Amino acid sequence: MKTIGIIGAGQMGGGIAHVCALAGFDVLIYDIEPERIESGLATISGNLSRQVNSEKIAAADKDAALARLSPANDLSELGIADFVIEAATEKETVKQEIFKAVCPILKPDAILATNTSSISITRLASVTDRPEKFLGVHFMNPVPVMQLVELVRGIATDETTFNAAKELCDKLGKETSVSEDFPAFIVNRVLIPMINEAIYVLYEGVGSVDGIDKAMKLGANHPMGPLQLADFIGLDTCLSIMQVLHDGLADPKYRPCPLLVKYVEAGWLGRKAGKGFYDYSGDEPKPTR
Ligand code: CAA
Repeated sequence: MKTIGIIGAGQMGGGIAHVCALAGFDVLIYDIEPERIESGLATISGNLSRQVNSEKIAAADKDAALARLSPANDLSELGIADFVIEAATEKETVKQEIFKAVCPILKPDAILATNTSSISITRLASVTDRPEKFLGVHFMNPVPVMQLVELVRGIATDETTFNAAKELCDKLGKETSVSEDFPAFIVNRVLIPMINEAIYVLYEGVGSVDGIDKAMKLGANHPMGPLQLADFIGLDTCLSIMQVLHDGLADPKYRPCPLLVKYVEAGWLGRKAGKGFYDYSGDEPKPTR
C-alpha cells in the first residue's frame, strides 16, 4: 500500500490526510469544492507546525509530510490510489453519489473505506461495485491527537480488506477498536446521546452553558465540556448522528433535543460557523445562552 486517496478536505479528511502523509504514504486529497483543498492543506500545515513546536515531530518530518500531500483536482486522479477513504458530509445520499462516481475510476483491487460516524456500512457498501473491499474506518477528531480508529465490517467485507485496514491503522500509530455495524457504532452511540442529554439539561434550564461544561470537566474529568465538544464536532454532525440513532434503533430515548434542532436550523453549527453554544467572534468564546 503506497498511495492513499482522501475524499473530503474538511476537518476529518484533512486530519486523516495529515496522519497518512506523516506516516510516509503518498496522499491525494480531493474535494468537490476545490478551494476547500487549499484551505485544508493550509490547516494541515498549521497543525504540523503545532507538532513541530511541541517537539512531537521534527521540522524535516513536517516538510516531508507536506511534500507527500497532493491536491487531486479531479476525482479521476484517485485512480492510482491503493486505499481510498471517504470523509465527506455525514449525509447518506452525498456518500452514495460519491461512491457511484468513484468506483468506476478505482483500480479493481483498491480498497474503499468510509469515515462515516454513524451510517450503516452494509447499506453504503451496497451502492459500490466492491462490497467485499469496503469497510468503515472511523477516525476521531482531532485526528492527529486522538489515538482511536473504529473499524467496522459490513456484511460482505472480506478478511483481506479488514486486515489491510488494521495494518494501515497500525502504520499510522493508531489503536483500533472493532465495532459491529449498528447505528453510530461504539463511540458515538455513547458520546452523542451524552451530548444530546447535556443540551436537554440546557433546554430545561437545569444549568447554564458554562455551568454544564464546568460540571462535566471538573466533575467527570472530561477534557472538554459536552457543549464545547458539540461545537467542536459540529452541531449538524451531532444532529445527524442522533437522527441515525433515532431512525435506526426506533427508541424514543434517542430523540434529538429540540434546542439542538433549532441551533442547526439557525446555522449555528459550532466552531466551524463561528457560533454554536459559544460565540467565537471575540478573543474568548462567549456562551450564546
Ligand atoms: N493537530 C495537531 N495537534 C493538535 C491538534 C491538531 N488538530 N489539536 C490539538 N493539538 C495538540 C496541541 O498542539 C497540544 O499539543 P502539546 O500538548 O504537545 O502542546 C495538544 O494537542 C493539546 O491541545 P491544546 O493544548 O490546544 O488544548 P487541550 O489540552 O484543551 O486539548 C483536545 C485539546 C486534544 C482537543 C482536548 O480538549 C480533547 O481531547 N478534547 C476531546 C476531544 C474528543 O472527545 N474528540 C472526539 C470527538 S468525537 C469524534 O470525533 C467522533 C465523531 O464522529 C463525532
